[in-house]
Amino acid sequence: MWKQGHGDATAIIWEGNSPDEDKTFTYSELLAQVKRFANVLKAQGIRKGDRVCIYLQMVPELTIAMLACARIGAVHSVVFGAFSADSLRDRINDSECKLLITQDTAFRGDRSGIPMKANGDAAVAKCPSITGVIVVRRTGDSVDFDESRDVWWHEAMATADDECPPEEMDAEDPLFILYTSGSTGQPKGVLHTTGGYLVYTSFTHEIVFDYHEGDVYFCAADIGWITGHSYIVYGPLSNRAITLMFESIPTYPDFGRYWQVIDKHQVNLFYTAPTALRALMKEGNDWVTQHSRSTLRLLGTVGEPIKEPEWLWYYNIVGDGRCPIVDTWWQTETGGILMTPLPGATPLKPGSATLPFFGIEPVILDEEGKEVEGNPARGYLCIKTAWPGVMRTVYGNHERFRETYFDRFPGYYMTGDGTLRDEDGYYWITGRVDDVLNISGHRLGTAEVEGAIGQHETVAEAAVVGYPHEIKGQGIYAYVTLMSGVSPSDDIETGIKGVVRQYIGPHATPDKIQFAPALPQNPLRQNYAAHPSLVDGRK
Ligand code: WTA
Repeated sequence: MWKQGHGDATAIIWEGNSPDEDKTFTYSELLAQVKRFANVLKAQGIRKGDRVCIYLQMVPELTIAMLACARIGAVHSVVFGAFSADSLRDRINDSECKLLITQDTAFRGDRSGIPMKANGDAAVAKCPSITGVIVVRRTGDSVDFDESRDVWWHEAMATADDECPPEEMDAEDPLFILYTSGSTGQPKGVLHTTGGYLVYTSFTHEIVFDYHEGDVYFCAADIGWITGHSYIVYGPLSNRAITLMFESIPTYPDFGRYWQVIDKHQVNLFYTAPTALRALMKEGNDWVTQHSRSTLRLLGTVGEPIKEPEWLWYYNIVGDGRCPIVDTWWQTETGGILMTPLPGATPLKPGSATLPFFGIEPVILDEEGKEVEGNPARGYLCIKTAWPGVMRTVYGNHERFRETYFDRFPGYYMTGDGTLRDEDGYYWITGRVDDVLNISGHRLGTAEVEGAIGQHETVAEAAVVGYPHEIKGQGIYAYVTLMSGVSPSDDIETGIKGVVRQYIGPHATPDKIQFAPALPQNPLRQNYAAHPSLVDGRK
């Protein structure tokens, strides 16, 4: 975080859930808070290398906590605020976090009282490594408070010392762990390190978004996912940018919220996901055009393939036909953007992430792992050489890292995506070729959802697949076989959805459940040998 000589410059604009609530932090103010909270962490016994779990919604304390961990060399593990207590518990236990940072309750759109602390309490009850819990007071709702373990953020900060020298770190020391879903088993703790990750996120942020001093940059992702880590927090703040943190949702209080925020804070650069564009596009253009958006200079998209209609809507309606779109393809594992147009320099094609970023060597492999030369070409998207932001390991399981990404095609990093390369050498990502779903840009493994469904007492077996969904991109379709003697009913269906919400979180709720008398063995498994997107062409 660069402050020297620029302490009065704005670092974070925080826009609250309600359009009446916002806050600004200069670089000096942010640094002061980070140092104080770093001392709070130290007072909790946290030292270099210790893991700290952060389970917060999009409150400023989230960024402060992450940077405070980085300052003392502690490794943060942020868990997206919609995850359930069970998911939180599993993530805390996998990396043996010592401390949990959470908030009382949360607002989200017109919902309030979202039970963050209560989920934290339920998780921590089964987390032997946790020695303390720090609680941000966001809503003022009353919550259970264990005096022997819990500490209020504001009370600890009030008495904390405001000097805290940064810990000296090796470039390869871990910076954070972020859990992401794979095709098998429990989510993996993707580990990113200090030097390479920061080089890669700051460089890509500057070049891809054409960031210039004073620009107001608004990435509408949640910091609970990699996009927020790299392009709300680390990339922008290491470039001394003005980064906007948004606590709410695009549809609250109405469908014009993004465009209202853009006018209110004079946003120049805007970055969001196709799922949000699809949801807003169907509500009509008036929600957009009633706001000026005249400060916008560039638009970005990430998280899933963007199709031509929403690309054109973004370009023509949101950007008034004058803002280039950067369709950025990358992954939790890659740390930062690997494929993207360079704004103003790369001719755009709606729906294509275009060309690799500097230093990135994508290749297309066939079934045998042979590079497919020439254009057009189609196959498995792999990367031939490493780059600074690549993940370094799966936390606690280096073997799983090797198996997942490097075993099937030795010598290459396997992305898990299929791609088409057209006659101009442009890449068109066709989506995952493994058992990973992309639901509204959120990554989920079919095995995780199947496991959660199996927790319902009536379920004998379940198989989950993705299907095309108008808004979410992909929806969750579950085939379920009940125990013998049990008949399907609405109650059972509701109950199954309930256990999925309980075991994973609301974002994993199946959209459709089909009861089937039996499932074929090795049910509906997509595999690398026969994936429809590689056979039928671009989705
Ligand atoms: C998909 C999100 C097409 C892809 C940064 C990838 C995309 C997965 C794009 C990673 C894009 C991401 N076009 N597909 N521009 N960006 N994806 O780890 O399938 O949450 O493998 O990282 O999202 O999701 P993750």
